Amino acid sequence: MTVAFSQASFLRAITQPDQAPTPARPGVVFAGRSNVGKSSLINSLLRRKGLAKTSSTPGRTREIVYFNVDDRFYFIDIPGYGYAKTSKTVKSKWGPMIEEFLTGTPSIRLVVLILDARRDPSTEDLQMVEWLRSVRIPCQIVVSKIDKVRKTHRERHLRSIADTLGLDSHKDLLTYSSEDGTGRPELIRVLLEALEA
Ligand code: GTP
Ligand code: MG
Repeated sequence: MTVAFSQASFLRAITQPDQAPTPARPGVVFAGRSNVGKSSLINSLLRRKGLAKTSSTPGRTREIVYFNVDDRFYFIDIPGYGYAKTSKTVKSKWGPMIEEFLTGTPSIRLVVLILDARRDPSTEDLQMVEWLRSVRIPCQIVVSKIDKVRKTHRERHLRSIADTLGLDSHKDLLTYSSEDGTGRPELIRVLLEALEA
């Protein structure tokens, strides 16, 4: 059996759906607030440090960035929301750009919505979950930077996040660490299931 997601390369950065690469291939989008670790998670999944540009300052990813994975799938890195210092103009463009992209790209199989293990979901996180539900785009919530939370405290954080999201159980949440690879096999399984369906 070949290893999943073994060959990856940068493909293209776009700002609107009609610039998306062809052929349309099953894709997964990595979304979440600014600085939550979207780009790092992509690099960790693909085991390619530096492929997606990361930064300790929020607002690093400004376009919709396509990565070619195994000539079969697209991994798509999008700009984060909720960064206070982003200019009003950029903020007012973010929503329409992302909404138009997500609703206008039917080959997107799944949105991985990334949350920070150390904080409760923000209003914008909740709006994103609601909106994805309303447009019927499948969403997997991933609680990342889990390495920052002591093992004995993890369950409590997950319960709190699940409560805020109105989930019955925190078992629907996946945990992840781009630092040490926690949760990587589980997330890969979920991605393959969505992409190969
Ligand atoms: P924007 O593109 O600005 O929206 O940010 P992003 O969501 O792509 O975040 P990025 O991957 O650039 O990571 C932001 C910061 O968080 C960087 O300093 C990363 O090193 C750090 N980081 C990301 N994931 C993890 C993780 O799992 N654990 C730890 N400890 N740090 C992480
Ligand atoms: Mg980024």
